[in-house]
Amino acid sequence: MIGRREGPLMRSNSSQSLLKSRIAIAIVIGVLIGCVFAFLFPNGFFVSNTIRNSNYNLAGSKTQTNSVACESSDRINMLKSQFVAESEKNAELKKQVRELTERLRLAEQGKDQAQKQFLALGKQPKAGPFGTVKGLRTNPTVIPDESVNPRLSKILEKVAVRKELIVALANSNVKDMLEVWFTNIKRVGISNYLVVALDEEITKLCESNQVPVYKRDPDEGIDSTGRTGGNHVVSGLKFRILREFLQLGYSVLLSDVDIVYLQNPFDYLIRDSDVESMSDGHDNMTAYGFNHVFDEPAMGWARYAHTMRIWVYNSGFFYIRPTIPAIELLDRVATRLSNDPNSWDQAVFNEELFYPSHPGYDGLHAARRTMDYYLFMNSKVLFKTVRNDPSLSKIKPVIIHVNYHPDKLPRMKAVVEYYINGKQDALKPFPNGSDW
Ligand SMILES: *[C@@H]1O[C@H](CO)[C@@H](O)[C@H](O)[C@H]1NC(C)=O
Ligand SMILES: *[C@@H]1O[C@H](CO)[C@@H](O)[C@H](O)[C@H]1NC(C)=O
Repeated sequence: MIGRREGPLMRSNSSQSLLKSRIAIAIVIGVLIGCVFAFLFPNGFFVSNTIRNSNYNLAGSKTQTNSVACESSDRINMLKSQFVAESEKNAELKKQVRELTERLRLAEQGKDQAQKQFLALGKQPKAGPFGTVKGLRTNPTVIPDESVNPRLSKILEKVAVRKELIVALANSNVKDMLEVWFTNIKRVGISNYLVVALDEEITKLCESNQVPVYKRDPDEGIDSTGRTGGNHVVSGLKFRILREFLQLGYSVLLSDVDIVYLQNPFDYLIRDSDVESMSDGHDNMTAYGFNHVFDEPAMGWARYAHTMRIWVYNSGFFYIRPTIPAIELLDRVATRLSNDPNSWDQAVFNEELFYPSHPGYDGLHAARRTMDYYLFMNSKVLFKTVRNDPSLSKIKPVIIHVNYHPDKLPRMKAVVEYYINGKQDALKPFPNGSDW
């Protein structure tokens, strides 16, 4: 094969010179094309767009690169002089940085703390299969701290049953209702209850009736209001006193005295939440919550806005467990009541329980449970609904709270007549609401 190829190349001189001139022509054409391209693309073929763009980005056009460099050095000089001018502020800045760093560190610590608390509660879980997962609502109880109030601690050791008891605060303004209150508690056979006496008259009344009583130490600052104060002042005091019960490790069924006990409430509690409360609601929707649709026709297509509603919890009858969220609730309510003497304790109690966290506000994260409103019945349910309904009036409630009516004592006595003594028309003389 090689020999055959060499053959034609050597064939003649004339074909050799023709080949040479062809090569020369090709070289000339190549040089010419090179010149044309050098003219059209002075930057060469492979200058990428990004590089060109970066030139434009720097200074708007390629030709300004030099002036940009000048500007940059001007700015550096300017910044340098600014830096010198602000050197006095340096110490202050450094301090701020130190403070920020410290706050960051504390924030990190807080995160660790939460994680540690969480791990202390149990093993870090994997989410189970669909439909089997359940969030935490029964928070762990605090470690009892007797040193908070050794005298109260001794009383509670005697009075409480399974670390829980009914607690009522009373001064002599509510003496008559208190008598109906403890008479019915005794009748039902409840032994774990305690009256926190806010004056001497109540202490004596309880002692002469073998009612467990706890007289506050008169040196205690928070008590000075209790002796003379109206209902709302006593309400504020209530949250501070309650705190000690929880710190001592007891669950408290806080009770107003305008309540008639018909059964033992401890047989009907669920005990899975920080706060388990009776409701001011009068039916399933108002007591347990509902979706109220707010209508604004001017919005056309979007005229309906959905709202979450629930009638308030009654701060005169609730079961509270000795947990951190429960104690935080008491602290928050007591703080707000002392900051604003015109605030109403029940409104504050509910706002703290229900408002979510939002900008500038950290909401309480307490577990809540609404009690059955036929078993833990308010006087609106009794006088508007139950007494007029033959089947509902056969239900025996656990308690009746005469919270909706100002003529409390006669209605309490009528409730006793109706439910205890079987007088069928005992409730009839009373109007549904008050007559003003
Ligand atoms: C109210 O709720 C209870 C249980 O929560 C339910 O058994 C009852 O049927 C409800 N009543 C009405 C009228 O929806
Ligand atoms: C009380 O309320 C019931 C049910 O709402 C009603 O039927 C009754 O007429 C009311 N009684 C009075 C005296 O208004």
